[in-house]
Amino acid sequence: MPRKPIIAGNWKMNCTQPEAIQLIRELLPLVSSDDLSDRVEMVVAPPFTALAAARQELAASTISLAAQDVFWKQSGAYTGQISPAMLVDAGVRYCIVGHSESRGRFGVPEPDFDETVLRHFGDSDETVRRKVSVLFQFGLTPICCVGETLAERKAGRTDATVIGQTERALQGLTAEQVATLVMAYEPVWAIGTGEVCDAPEADRVCGLIRATVERLYGRTAAERVRIQYGGSVKPSNAVELLAKENIDGALVGGASLKATDFAQIISAAPHR
Ligand code: PGA
Repeated sequence: MPRKPIIAGNWKMNCTQPEAIQLIRELLPLVSSDDLSDRVEMVVAPPFTALAAARQELAASTISLAAQDVFWKQSGAYTGQISPAMLVDAGVRYCIVGHSESRGRFGVPEPDFDETVLRHFGDSDETVRRKVSVLFQFGLTPICCVGETLAERKAGRTDATVIGQTERALQGLTAEQVATLVMAYEPVWAIGTGEVCDAPEADRVCGLIRATVERLYGRTAAERVRIQYGGSVKPSNAVELLAKENIDGALVGGASLKATDFAQIISAAPHR
């Protein structure tokens, strides 16, 4: 069964409510053809404060809403956190977890720490695993990010890093759950830097994620799991990336904040 490409816009810490409404109003007419929604699944991930406004604007569209993070507890004294039940209440369908900007290793010196790729929020493989697991409990679909830093790539540790992060994020899930989730291969050095991972290499690493899923959860899960590439995706490189066999979509940061660019990236999704 062919996998339907999924293109998600990660707005990060951008867009007040009026800005979110404006962006969506610019985007909708550009992507509202039936042909497009038949061939590609579209998602936007506004910041928490704009979810309600975005939900209203998207109500009559085929674009789904995603959150950018979640906490794994249902409620309680967790100042600043958002629970999965709150995301359900906000009309969210997908949730990004383990984004490299949310991962980090507080207390552990990071020789490769790069100020231009800020990683603040202390997500670890274990917190990512908990978040993935709780999202399933609440009927939400994770968009689970993995990817190596520049130092890891230079040290020849790309494959081990990506395989290890994938294994640990998915631990404890059933094959059926894994089949429905979305993985995103996001090389940290390619995020927000304008430096894109070339398409054959992005395809190779996405294939590695798929092989890891196959080894642990079987063939069917591996054939069904969708794996996005993310990191400086733009209209000029989207066609080549999205044509690759193991790349089932894109997680788009900067370019998703411009309606025309995001619409062009969505249109670049192949017929499958
Ligand atoms: P970018 O971000 O497209 O701005 O590189 C991608 C991401 O962080 O998801």
